[in-house]
Parts: sequence; structure tokens; C-alpha cells
Amino acid sequence: MRKLILLGIATLLGAVDVAQVIESPDAVAILQKDALPKATVYTMPAGCVSDDPSVIARGKYLFHNLNGKDAKDAPPEGLTKLLPNGKEKQYGNCVACHNIQGAQGHGNVGPDLTKYHTMFVASGARNAPFVYQKIADARMDNPKTHMTINLTTKLFNEREVCDLTSYILSQK
Ligand code: HEC
Repeated sequence: MRKLILLGIATLLGAVDVAQVIESPDAVAILQKDALPKATVYTMPAGCVSDDPSVIARGKYLFHNLNGKDAKDAPPEGLTKLLPNGKEKQYGNCVACHNIQGAQGHGNVGPDLTKYHTMFVASGARNAPFVYQKIADARMDNPKTHMTINLTTKLFNEREVCDLTSYILSQK
């Protein structure tokens, strides 16, 4: 019996090299890879806000959909369900957190954006560059925001942030 126990301990200590069995990933490298890029200030490009119906249609589509696979209707001109590399295009899914005119199944983590132009812009509380920056990188307004970061993460490009800005500002 004693012999057996000793043998067991010997096996545990010697025969198995624990370091090789237990994975020890480099936690710092993983955290750095997953960390968001630094909060960034953006200047709204000239001609960003448009009342062109096709621009607003793209903004609306980005706002109300999560990704290409689940999107119900065909995307408007200028948007695709798949990226050139064949991967699914991610949309904004802003409706998960915000109400807006015509929203279905909206969340309420973020403020209600219904009649945004009338409520926030015409009233002088907000302007277009604020909305652009908020969508591009919400952390400049609130470092602890729960909102998604869109331009700094390259989830959207400049034009798509303008599409979304135009859509929200069209809500009167
Ligand atoms: C996970 C929840 C969440 C998602 C998704 C989200 N937001 Fe937000 N949003 C917020 C919160 C919370 C605020 C309030 C300010 C803050 O805490 O950053 C906010 C604020 C805003 C504001 C500023 C309103 C104001 O005048 O104060 C705008 C505009 C906005 N979001 C647009 C969008 C758009 C467009 C999208 C989609 C690309 C989006 N949000 C996605 C949570 C979200």
C-alpha cells in the first residue's frame, strides 16, 4: 500500500511535467489585443449631413439592423450584407438601446432619439458635430459610456457615421 502511494506521488511529481499540461496564456497580450483603441476626437467632414433620401435610407438601415445575415429587407444602395472578404457586414443595432420613430422592439439603455431634430437640435441643446462624434466615439462625451464605439473600432467608416447622423437629424 505504501509502495503504491509513493509510486503515485512519484508519477504526479516526476513523470508529468505540469507546466506542459496546464496552458498558461499571456494574459497581458490577450488584454491588449481585446482592449479598445484610445478614445478619439473627430471633426465632422464637410457635407456630412444630408437630406438626400438615399443617405437617410442607409442610416435607417444601419440603425435598425444588427447584421447582414439577420437583416430582413434588402439593403439600400451603397450597403451590402457581406463584406468584400465574404464576411457578414455588421450594422449598428442602435435600436437595441434607443427608441426612434418606427422602432420595433427597441431597448432603453440609451436616450429616446424620437424627434431628435425637434427635441435636441432645434432647441439648441445639440448640434450635428456632437451627434457625429457621439456615433464615431461616444467616449469623448462620456468616458464610461455603454454605447458602442463605431469609427475608432472601424466597425463603420466615415460615410456610414454620416449616414447615421443624417438619419437621426432627419427625425423632426
Ligand atoms: C449598448 C447600448 C447602446 C447602443 C447599441 C447604442 N447606443 Fe447610443 N447611447 C447609449 C447611451 C447609454 C447613451 C447616453 C450617453 C452615454 O452614456 O454615452 C447614448 C447616446 C447616444 C446619442 C446622444 C443623444 C444625446 O443627444 O444625448 C446618440 C445620437 C446616439 N446614442 C446614437 C446611437 C447610434 C446611431 C447607435 C448605433 C450606431 C447607438 N447610439 C448605439 C447607448 C447605446
